[in-house]
Amino acid sequence: MESLISLVNRLQRACTALGDNGEDSALPTLWDALPSIAVVGGQSSGKSSVLESIVGKDFLPRGSGIVTRRPLVLQLHRIDEGREYAEFGHLPRKRFTDFAAVRKEISDETDRETGRSKQISSVPIYLSIYSPNVVNLTLIDLPGLTKVAIDGQPESVVHDIENMVRTYIEKPNCIILAISPANQDLATSDAIKISREVDPKGERTFGVLTKIDLMDKGTDAVDILEGKAYRLQFPWIGVVNRSQADINKNVDMIAARRREREYFAQTPEYKHLAHRMGSEHLGKVLSKHLESVIKSRIPGLQSLINKTIIELESELSRLGRPVATDAGGKLYMIMEIVRIFDGIFKEHLDGVRSGGDKI
Ligand code: GDP
Ligand code: NA
Ligand code: MG
Repeated sequence: MESLISLVNRLQRACTALGDNGEDSALPTLWDALPSIAVVGGQSSGKSSVLESIVGKDFLPRGSGIVTRRPLVLQLHRIDEGREYAEFGHLPRKRFTDFAAVRKEISDETDRETGRSKQISSVPIYLSIYSPNVVNLTLIDLPGLTKVAIDGQPESVVHDIENMVRTYIEKPNCIILAISPANQDLATSDAIKISREVDPKGERTFGVLTKIDLMDKGTDAVDILEGKAYRLQFPWIGVVNRSQADINKNVDMIAARRREREYFAQTPEYKHLAHRMGSEHLGKVLSKHLESVIKSRIPGLQSLINKTIIELESELSRLGRPVATDAGGKLYMIMEIVRIFDGIFKEHLDGVRSGGDKI
C-alpha cells in the first residue's frame, strides 16, 4: 500500500494544482491542515546543508547572502529501484536526472518570480525527488533569518523574511526543524528565538545542532545535545555537515555521511550519544514522526476532505456541468482526486482503528 506520507504529498500537489482558483474553495484550508516540516534558522546556520544531507544529494543553490529567496517545498519519495530523478511542480512533464540542473532550475525559477533582484517572494517552488536512498518526507526550505539588509535590499527584508517564516511555522501542523550552529551562543540562535515564539513548549520543534566540528577547542556540545542547555520535547540531534572546503573539493555525500558517523563514534565526548546523532538518524526520526502525526490527523483530515467535496460540488453546480471553462475543468479534476484520496484515507484508517469513520 502506498505510504501515508506519499499520499499526503499527492494531496498537497493536488491542492497546489488548483492554483489561483483556490480562493473560493476549501482547498487552501485543506493544504494548511496537512502536516509538513519547515527548516528554520539564521543565514549560514547550515539549513541547506542539513536538507542536502537528509536527501543525500547536492541540489540546492548556495553562496553567500540570501540564496534561498522563495520557500522550497521538497517532497521526497522513496522508490524501490531505478534511477533517481527530480520533478518540479511548474514543469510537470520534465524529469531531471542531473542534479546540477535541478540546482540551476531552482535559482532560475527564483529569479523568474523575484525578477533577479535580491527580493524575496512567499510563492513556493515545488520540487519532488524520487530515489531509493530517501525516506518519505516533505520538507520546506525557507529563507534564512537575518539581522540586516544587504546588496540594495530594502530595509523591510529583515521583517519580511521573519514574517514569511512565521506564517509557515505558526501553523499547528507544522513541524519545526530549528537549525542552530554550535559555534555560536545558543542564546543568540535565530531558530530558537522564533520557534520558541510559536511553540513555547517545544512540542513540535526538533533542535538540530550544526557545525559541532567548528567549536572552539576545549568546548563541547554535550550539554545541548543532552537537553540540559535548552529543553525540547524531542531529543536534540547533532550533525556534522560538509565544510566549505569539503564542498570546494567536491567531497561527496556518501563520504561525508561516513565521516560524520566516524566523528560521533570516535569523539570521546559524543561516543555515548553517537546512536542518536547524524543526518541519517535525523532523516529517519523525522519520517517516523511525520507518519505518526499524519495517522493521528486522519479523522480530522477526512472531515475536512468531506467539507471540501461538498463545497466543490456546489461550486461545480454553480458553474454548470459539463464544464467547458478552464476553472470548471480544474475543479472537476481536483474533486475527483480528493474523492480518490478520501477512499484511500478510509482504507488506512480502517487499518489503524476499528470501526470506520462517518461518511
Ligand atoms: P544556510 O545559509 O543556513 O543554508 O547554510 P549552508 O548550508 O549554506 O552553510 C553555510 C556554510 O557553512 C557552508 O559553507 C557550509 O559548508 C558550512 N557548514 C554548514 N554546516 C557545517 C558543519 O556542520 N560543519 C562545517 N565545518 N561547516 C558547515
Ligand atoms: Na547560505
Ligand atoms: Mg541556504
